[in-house]
Amino acid sequence: MDNYRVFGNPIKQSRSPFIHQQFALSTNQELDYQAQLVELDQFASTVKEFIAQGGKGANITVPFKEQALELADHLTERAKLAGAVNTLSFIDDKVYGDNTDGLGLVQDLLRHQVSLKQARILLLGAGGAAKGVILPLLEQQPTEIVIANRTVSKAEQLCQQFSALGHSNLSACGFNDVNEQAFDVIINATSASLSGNIPSIPNSCIDANTVCYDMVYASELTPFLQWATEQGTEKLIDGLGMLVGQAAESFSIWRGVKPQVEPVLEDLRTQMT
Ligand code: ATR
Repeated sequence: MDNYRVFGNPIKQSRSPFIHQQFALSTNQELDYQAQLVELDQFASTVKEFIAQGGKGANITVPFKEQALELADHLTERAKLAGAVNTLSFIDDKVYGDNTDGLGLVQDLLRHQVSLKQARILLLGAGGAAKGVILPLLEQQPTEIVIANRTVSKAEQLCQQFSALGHSNLSACGFNDVNEQAFDVIINATSASLSGNIPSIPNSCIDANTVCYDMVYASELTPFLQWATEQGTEKLIDGLGMLVGQAAESFSIWRGVKPQVEPVLEDLRTQMT
């Protein structure tokens, strides 16, 4: 049987083993997928040990995604641009690195019938989570992406990186300076929700038609989605679909078959209530 892992620290909370086991069942694939806690200074040696045992692939989560980028022999363009790897494949003594987080987000938005083509998108945050989704969002041909961050220089840096590749529809600013015209889509890629905070963007960025997406997920509305409700929009999506979506892309890279995300998503949602 082929073996897969998710490596992280912490890892106890990971839902990836459940998700991949459900995918395997639904696509009739025989595989084993386990979560493994990795000591902070032992990432590379742990991966190498798993390869030596015949491991076929691994998901990588916090805080090892940048180290996984370093470790890979071959990288996809989107992994290079994200500066992080969440999917490793071990084939013929070579390590292949990819990043499926952005695809997971885009597919979740499309699944919710959110139109991204010609959309005005406000991306909140300029850390790893934001960086990983910019290229897949640009590939949907939005009219513009405004990157707003607490530390403006980090947003500007991201903007310059993508502008240098010929993408001219990106701009950067601080939260308070976001253009006050309502956006079609606002994506919260900050970790502010985790500490109960909300990025301080003007209320006028949002109207009843604005889709609000929080990459964080929880059993109740996140602070950002709660704030969005108070501004009058009902189009609220949390990051659970992105989690299952990125896993489906990893599974498809490894197994060559794309599992359905909806049944697993429903199971997870039920488990959370
Ligand atoms: P991740 O990989 O989750 O993106 P990260 O790279 O540490 O983690 O980035 C965290 C992001 O959340 C950053 O954009 C951070 O803003 P700064 O660059 O100014 O630090 C943002 N963030 C974290 N806590 C926040 C808060 N309370 N309010 C607003 N933004 C916050």
